[in-house]
Amino acid sequence: MDLGLKDKVAVIMGGTSGVGLKTAEMFLWEGARVAVCGRNQERMEKAIQHLLKFGTTDSIYAATCDVTNKEDVNNFINGAASRFEGIDILVNAAGQSVMGYFFDVTDEQWEQQIQLKYFAIIYAVKAVHPYLVKRGGGRIININATLAKEPERHMVTTAATRAGLLNLSKTLSQELAYDNILVNSVSLGLIRTDQWERRRMKNAPDMNPEEYYADLAKKRNIPLGRVGEAEEVASVIVFLASSKASYVSGSTIETAGALGKAL
Ligand SMILES: NC(=O)c1ccc[n+]([C@@H]2O[C@H](COP(=O)([O-])OP(=O)(O)OC[C@H]3O[C@@H](n4cnc5c(N)ncnc54)[C@H](OP(=O)(O)O)[C@@H]3O)[C@@H](O)[C@H]2O)c1
Repeated sequence: MDLGLKDKVAVIMGGTSGVGLKTAEMFLWEGARVAVCGRNQERMEKAIQHLLKFGTTDSIYAATCDVTNKEDVNNFINGAASRFEGIDILVNAAGQSVMGYFFDVTDEQWEQQIQLKYFAIIYAVKAVHPYLVKRGGGRIININATLAKEPERHMVTTAATRAGLLNLSKTLSQELAYDNILVNSVSLGLIRTDQWERRRMKNAPDMNPEEYYADLAKKRNIPLGRVGEAEEVASVIVFLASSKASYVSGSTIETAGALGKAL
């Protein structure tokens, strides 16, 4: 099936690991060009080496950028646009969770999470908007979590900031429709990525990974009976960016193995 992504330019905020990296890989498979960013230089180098298996130096742009820093975001997005002479797609995939109950979380952690899960998206959308308009339209895909609709007490900062982002995504889908920019969310449950690998290494380094994830799926009662894979999220993102999703905007696609119960 032709997804109409050949030569399109996709900018992936947080594309050096996990879901973002897998998405970059899939875009390259489809003949698109990709720009990826992250903060850690070593992770970035590894990501570039990985992506070079699917694309060439001409189709990959990578630069360090902290998405919570407006100047960094502007520099990265302008750099990608000038390298590829435009931008068609923005994927907001940067992030990591802070676990903690309300009284465990410091004000500084709240501010940091609001920056990461909220302002980072505002900065990226503002920076990419003129480029999408110049192309006559485009796509914005925000990665979210089932927690946005179903808060859990031990993940209070993630749940609250994600709910705000879900609301903002809806508004943006309406506001940017006038520029032919389609805005959607992909809502994740538990996906096996470096984020979870770091938790596994911290909490159960000696446990067999397959057993660890099977156990996690059981403890969290995931109806499909397993934790998801980054590739299963990336394919939804790529679909939303494709010509096949030309009338989908303002929607949220849950990619969580039926974990979410909210309507
Ligand atoms: N995996 C899950 O189960 C799950 C569930 C719900 C939601 N999510 C969300 O899905 C998204 C992808 O997560 P993942 O599981 O793929 O995590 P991951 O493997 O840890 O990847 C996160 C990516 O974001 C980058 N990043 C983090 N903070 C950043 C910052 N301030 N500036 C720039 N880049 C930053 C990381 O690079 P650096 O660290 O080098 O900056 C990395 O490239 C996140 O928003 C996460 O919250 C994941």
